[in-house]
Amino acid sequence: MKLQIENTNQINGTINISGSKNACLPILVTCLLTNQKMKLYNVPNITDITYMLRILKSIGVKVKYNKDTNELLLKRKYLKSNIKSTYTKKIRASYYLIGALFTEKKTMKTKYPGGCNFEERPIDYHLEAINKMGGKICTRKNIITIKRKQKIPTTIKLKTKSVGATINIILASVKTIGTTTILNPSLEPEVLDFINVLIKMGSMIEIKKDKIIIKGVKKLKGTSYRIMSDRIEAGSYLFLASSVVKSNVLLNNINPSLVKNVINQLSSAGVDLIINKDSIRVLKNQSLNYMKVIADDYPNFPTDLQQIATAALLSSNKISLVQDNIYKNRFSEVNELIKMNAKIIRHKNKIIIFPSRLIGTTVTATDLRAGFALIVAGANAEGVTIIENAQVIFRGYEHLILKLKNLNINAKIIL
Ligand code: EPU
Repeated sequence: MKLQIENTNQINGTINISGSKNACLPILVTCLLTNQKMKLYNVPNITDITYMLRILKSIGVKVKYNKDTNELLLKRKYLKSNIKSTYTKKIRASYYLIGALFTEKKTMKTKYPGGCNFEERPIDYHLEAINKMGGKICTRKNIITIKRKQKIPTTIKLKTKSVGATINIILASVKTIGTTTILNPSLEPEVLDFINVLIKMGSMIEIKKDKIIIKGVKKLKGTSYRIMSDRIEAGSYLFLASSVVKSNVLLNNINPSLVKNVINQLSSAGVDLIINKDSIRVLKNQSLNYMKVIADDYPNFPTDLQQIATAALLSSNKISLVQDNIYKNRFSEVNELIKMNAKIIRHKNKIIIFPSRLIGTTVTATDLRAGFALIVAGANAEGVTIIENAQVIFRGYEHLILKLKNLNINAKIIL
């Protein structure tokens, strides 16, 4: 798929922020832990969710999704332990099936997860934890097989904070009688949203400053829940609005405290932001000042926004710095931006961004966030930009073309 985007000097308009991809993905998987109905609201209509729903269907879940209202009904009818769906290789979050099936089944089989492989993304923390919790793991030819006799309550210390491993350990332990403790867990807002659902289902989970304590229960019940808004989607549009010469953009359906760090960065770079309870207005009519962006665990700047910040900072007339402490090689957008005349120098996990006059050309979206970064660059580049492999952007941005149109940006899919 190719996406064409034209230069824009001014963007105006209003958009609603969708439900969070990274909160919704594990929340969908919680339906495997109960035989009662789950009703979810604010479920984004994006490819990663479609793929997860296909996997769930393939192992015995009844799915009723209303894409117009973003409401979803899930009910586990039966549960297969051998996940054959090829969609597991298309998304990273398919690793959540490991934790849930460990809880429900004595044996399970699945393929290694896929998704945005912007650098090597091991799942060793997940597998080591499952092993400590009683799972015998065999990995061969990209297939993971897990057998267990019993589920063992234990204490697991994560080497670094990991969103996926934290969630997977919780999925694997909520129904293990006894106490499981996660030390050094990830406490990103998406992890907390997922925990809220499990608590509503009857789990006993306690969050302390640097640990999560799970007291296993025998049974979980169905519930209804509204997925939190996507702070990364909100941040993406905040940077897009802040990168063009002039803008007046209103983002609705976003709790500003979720993007506090982004708001602080943009305000100190000279962007006027009007903050309300559930909305943010961007008013911009002067050049962006420089930024020093260091991506790290929440509440620091999110790694998922650093590539997009880079593209926006090319329009500043000062020199900026972006550093990623989570993924040291998440810079695949840099070569594409250089094709557009961007002046960027990389040293290890840092890049220096110089003021650049971008020129539209054909570039490739190497991953989801790199793809949105190219949209930001395309809106600021002279002429027309063609983004190849654009389907990856639809993995995480609901109604992308419609939202860009609502902001008066000329963007369309071309054959
Ligand atoms: N890590 C390991 N071993 C593991 C797990 C993680 O070494 O077993 C390392 C990673 O390589 C990385 C760090 O730990 O350096 C943190 O990775 P984490 O496990 O937190 O990442 P993840 O759970 O696989 C989620 C999001 C990503 C987001 C990261 C960081 C989902 C489905 N994905 O990935 O989202 O970048 O947390 O916040 O929730 C995106 O939306 O574009 C995206 C890539």
